[in-house]
Amino acid sequence: MNLSIRPRRNRNSAMMRALVRETFLSPSNFILPLFVMEGKKQKEPIRSMPGVFRLSRDLIVAEARRAYKLGIPAVALFPVIPEKQKNRLATASKDPNGLLQKTVQDLKSAVPGIVVITDVAMDPYSSDGHDGLVKQGKILNDETLPILAEMALVQARAGADMVAPSDMMDGRVGYLRNALDENGFTETGILAYSAKYASAFYGPFREALASAPKHGDKKTYQMDPANRREALREVKLDVEEGADIVMVKPALPYLDIISDIKKIVDVPVAAYQVSGEYAMVKAAGKLGWLDADRAMMESVLSIKRAGADMILTYAAMELAQAL
Ligand code: PBG
Repeated sequence: MNLSIRPRRNRNSAMMRALVRETFLSPSNFILPLFVMEGKKQKEPIRSMPGVFRLSRDLIVAEARRAYKLGIPAVALFPVIPEKQKNRLATASKDPNGLLQKTVQDLKSAVPGIVVITDVAMDPYSSDGHDGLVKQGKILNDETLPILAEMALVQARAGADMVAPSDMMDGRVGYLRNALDENGFTETGILAYSAKYASAFYGPFREALASAPKHGDKKTYQMDPANRREALREVKLDVEEGADIVMVKPALPYLDIISDIKKIVDVPVAAYQVSGEYAMVKAAGKLGWLDADRAMMESVLSIKRAGADMILTYAAMELAQAL
């Protein structure tokens, strides 16, 4: 047949495909989220996240060392706080000797090269299970900001390289930047969860931390999954307020958002392949319904192709090994 244009010519062989490949994944694109708990030599499986564990501090250090050796440059820490330590004001979050702070110190002395990112939000410490302060069923914005700032400061003091506000309160990036600068932490970065949606895909994470809201939902602060332009508004604000990196979360169901944001910002763009995205692939793999290893790699590659410069993924270790 007289077909002058045959796109298949560029797919003829493995080497031809290598030549025309547009997107590459590297372990240096990954950030490994880790769940830290009290105790020694503790390793608790998370039912809905096969292959992911809650780890005590000693094991977190070992895990981070493994990640670093594989070329993964950063970890993001989330603390498992016992219910009896939680209260309305999330007071445990500002304890300089708290679990998260001690873990940061351990990591920075044992694996000094690795970038340590800490989460700034009230939910792991809050008896209400919300990211902000709750009063009469309402999530208060301005009253939450000083609590977040104290949290960010103890994390910075412990040695966190970046703080990552995941709370979606208005104005928190500027507020944190100011608090950090005033206290001499001009080198501590802010990774802003800028376009964070009110998503069903966070289910397994909330199981891991037992951090689900005790009442209501997070829709008055996290974004409506129906909205696209609003993400640009959130991102622009965070950049103006001093975010060093902006993030979209979840990732795979929100590739349009990642792509839109990549076009309008000049800071790096991160995406979070969240717990539910990970769980879906693993579950289908367990059932024998798809090849989980390939599906995971394809998901993360697609997130990068859409415009993410870096990806938080629970599969970071296995992906880095495969690469
Ligand atoms: C809370 C927080 C959540 C995640 C990261 N930080 C859950 C939530 O907003 O309820 C979810 C991550 C995941 O699902 O993997 N500040």
